[in-house]
Amino acid sequence: MQQIKLKRALLPALGMGTWHMGDQPTKRTAEIQALHYGLDHGLTVIDTAEMYGNGRSESLVGAAIRPYQRQDLFVISKFLPQNATPQRMRQSLLASLKRLGTDYLDLYLLHWRGRVPLAATVAGLETLKREGKIHYWGVSNFDQVDLLELQQITGGQHLAANEDLYNLGARGVEFDVLPWQQKRALPLIAYSPIAQGDVRGNLTGNKVVQQIAAAHQLTAYQVLLAWTLRQPQVLAIPQTSNWQHMQANIAAADSTLTASELAALNQEFPAPTHKQPLEII
Ligand SMILES: NC(=O)c1ccc[n+]([C@@H]2O[C@H](COP(=O)([O-])OP(=O)(O)OC[C@H]3O[C@@H](n4cnc5c(N)ncnc54)[C@H](OP(=O)(O)O)[C@@H]3O)[C@@H](O)[C@H]2O)c1
Repeated sequence: MQQIKLKRALLPALGMGTWHMGDQPTKRTAEIQALHYGLDHGLTVIDTAEMYGNGRSESLVGAAIRPYQRQDLFVISKFLPQNATPQRMRQSLLASLKRLGTDYLDLYLLHWRGRVPLAATVAGLETLKREGKIHYWGVSNFDQVDLLELQQITGGQHLAANEDLYNLGARGVEFDVLPWQQKRALPLIAYSPIAQGDVRGNLTGNKVVQQIAAAHQLTAYQVLLAWTLRQPQVLAIPQTSNWQHMQANIAAADSTLTASELAALNQEFPAPTHKQPLEII
């Protein structure tokens, strides 16, 4: 599997998302089984947030990672914009750590930009980093203009990653955000890499996607994931509560689409030719 570099950490390009996990007690066994399948097969990166189920996702992740060595994992969580002041983010972090059953996060992200000035947020994050409570910090749902502003702030150059929506049906970041990050070796954490299971079906139902899937003996969902992972410095975090889908996602991360297949997909879902507003879910 391809790897990406996040500051001093070398990580597999495929991680595990956990939005909506932990919400339904009847799904708990399957959810933990899916996460364990991923952990047992080298998926060390887990993405969660205080927002997900009001902490239920973090609690589920905490239960899932308990049997594993903490230092082998790379745990990401996020704080809400209203908790982005130094004092509130400390409270948020301590609550997240408690739910996760750990004493540090590998990466702590501002979930999206709110009203708190970025300088105050960066100062708070740098303090938590100095204390060893977080190893790295980053942002999410940041557009190019936000990233440029962040770079101007004291400590802003310590940004470790940005997490944005990125999939075959949402390619806007390719115009500016992604090349800017790649140039600076800053990972783009691609959320909803298979378009939230492609609920509208316009991606998995596409004939070219289906032909490519058949040629590789993959499913259309796997093609979407392989496509998202085709670029360097992209870390995709699909969510699944089904261990067989986890297995399929790992196989997809080990699959490479040919140049002509990528060209055919470009015809169907063109790359952006001008700036597009950042898409957010
Ligand atoms: N930073 C942010 O603002 C933000 C926003 C959205 C999401 N995220 C993060 O990104 C993660 C992923 O995004 P997402 O959950 O929105 O969408 P996603 O990963 O694109 O899609 C998840 C859906 O795809 C299905 N699925 C996964 N693998 C599959 C496979 N191999 N075959 C068929 N179906 C498959 C899952 O169902 P099954 O369970 O049945 O497999 C689930 O319904 C989230 O969980 C969260 O951690 C971050």
